Amino acid sequence: MPRQDVLSSAKTANRNEFYTQYEDIEKEVNAYVDFNPDVFRDKVILLPCDDPEWSNFTKYFAANFERFGIKKLVSTSYAKGWANVHQLSLFETASPIYDERLHEQHGRKYVLERDVDGSGRIDHKDLEFEYLEGDGDFRSAEVTKLRDEADFIITNPPFNTLFSEFFSWVIESGKQFLFIASINSITYKDVFPYLKENKMWLGTGMGRWISGFIVPSDYELYGTEARVENGKRIVATNSCLWYTNIDHGKRHEPLQLMTMADNLKYNKTLIKRLEKKFGDSTKYPKYENYDAIEVPFTEAIPSDYDGIMGVPVSFLDKYNPEQFEIVWTTDRGGDGRLEGIKLPHTRFDAPVVKGEGQYKRILIRRKKGYCCE
Ligand SMILES: C[S@@+](CC[C@H](N)C(=O)[O-])C[C@H]1O[C@@H](n2cnc3c(N)ncnc32)[C@H](O)[C@@H]1O
Repeated sequence: MPRQDVLSSAKTANRNEFYTQYEDIEKEVNAYVDFNPDVFRDKVILLPCDDPEWSNFTKYFAANFERFGIKKLVSTSYAKGWANVHQLSLFETASPIYDERLHEQHGRKYVLERDVDGSGRIDHKDLEFEYLEGDGDFRSAEVTKLRDEADFIITNPPFNTLFSEFFSWVIESGKQFLFIASINSITYKDVFPYLKENKMWLGTGMGRWISGFIVPSDYELYGTEARVENGKRIVATNSCLWYTNIDHGKRHEPLQLMTMADNLKYNKTLIKRLEKKFGDSTKYPKYENYDAIEVPFTEAIPSDYDGIMGVPVSFLDKYNPEQFEIVWTTDRGGDGRLEGIKLPHTRFDAPVVKGEGQYKRILIRRKKGYCCE
């Protein structure tokens, strides 16, 4: 199965059980703590759609509870999830309140707040377990209440059609967040405006930055994108990213760019691409339906062009809001929001060069007076 298809297959097969690897969580969260060592100090963190037996989010934050100065960690799991149906959590079975009948119907809640075992430190051994009244659905009143009591919502949520609901659930809370989503969601109608307005941004990497997900034992492994590592079955999707509204250093780093003239003279990859695709490497092509130029890859963005530029969605991985502004995306070109920069066209929603629709693009413009190019 081609790698791009692993997640779509998860979607069609309603397979939500892709568990995040510890090192991927560590790598991502470290970037926020590097940027602001006190980011989680005295804060309440909710990890919904989670499970300490299977998921590494709870393990990671429990291991770093004291170092980060976290006030309270709350993790909830979903009764109907794969892990809950097929596995009994040691946290649950070792608890005096463990009840076999409740296991099937009820979500679980784990709270880390105090040194329960008197060891002198707070860690995963101090997680306190209880059953939720309902099944642990993030949309339930009780999990929503936990959301409202938290400062941060952090997770890898279900991959299926629940994404939009999860997204709205997080956004409407007004809380800080960090969660995994598919790259495709960038241009979703309900998602893109938040990126454009810098109310949300990408985490510190996308695609291969997330090295793979652990899948349950009954998950069929396909092709070179799947492997077994230390007994864990792992699929690498190359199609995920982190969304967040927590600040990190990478988004303030300037993209180092050449002028348009230098690109057209020295950027061999650009010259080759323009020649091959458009038969002319002496200029950046202008779209026929938008007043913008086509820039086929991020490194080819000219540093001195003041107009609108169409860049691949992967640009967002390098997007510095002090250096560029996002104008819109061509993926939504048909909904009228491109008015003013859109010329009449009927054949394509995509940006058009030489009569041919191109890939969907993010339309950007450099910010005047940016100092650090
Ligand atoms: C992609 S998995 C990620 C699990 C874990 N957060 C991790 O990253 O390792 C999504 C989890 O959401 C759970 N889930 C599915 N539907 C849910 C719902 N309506 N409410 C809460 N959790 C749900 C699944 O059972 C699954 O455990």
